[in-house]
Amino acid sequence: MNFHTRKWVKPEDLNPNGTLFGGSLLRWIDEEAAIYAICQMDNQRVVTKFMSEINFVSSARQGDIIELGMTATHFGRTSITLRCAVRNKITRKSILTVEKMVFVNLDEHGEPAPHGRTQIRYADEAFNRYREDSRPVPQGPAAVEEELVVTRGEVDSLH
Ligand SMILES: CC(C)(COP(=O)(O)OP(=O)(O)OC[C@H]1O[C@@H](n2cnc3c(N)ncnc32)[C@H](O)[C@@H]1OP(=O)(O)O)[C@@H](O)C(=O)NCCC(=O)NCCS
Repeated sequence: MNFHTRKWVKPEDLNPNGTLFGGSLLRWIDEEAAIYAICQMDNQRVVTKFMSEINFVSSARQGDIIELGMTATHFGRTSITLRCAVRNKITRKSILTVEKMVFVNLDEHGEPAPHGRTQIRYADEAFNRYREDSRPVPQGPAAVEEELVVTRGEVDSLH
């Protein structure tokens, strides 16, 4: 699971108890998961279909830095299922888990559409496809194409 997104808990994110408001956290998770699903299915038209039970394991306080992690656990025909975890960035203490979030890939009419994916798409795959799509046609013998290299060290699930 990759923890890409960090959030800094600020006064406007708190509940009257002085800890992180669950609604703020759920909004961040839903957006993070939607971005993950968009990148995996290569389509902006995705909607949240289902969220399993949410376990608020421990609270976060003002000033805490938390990080959101996502991973795809299942690729269906039109849907993708994700697992989500939130933890304190410094202590690694778990704050929340969601075992199952389902996003559905839609067509231009808002109907479920096959996404064709069967496994996690990694950043280098997307980048290399972008390179292929945008590769300039060499103009004469002097044309030199800059070589862009993604090293394996940079490879992360597209997220
Ligand atoms: C998303 C929506 C178009 C799906 O319509 P639908 O008639 O349920 O479509 P389907 O029955 O064909 O199911 C679509 C996919 O969702 C999955 N799905 C449907 N209900 C599900 C549920 N309760 N739990 C898990 N997955 C579910 C199906 O298994 C299918 O996946 P697959 O093709 O990979 O097997 C429709 O339910 C909808 O518009 N919901 C509102 C979405 C929304 O507004 N979300 C909040 C804002 S983003």
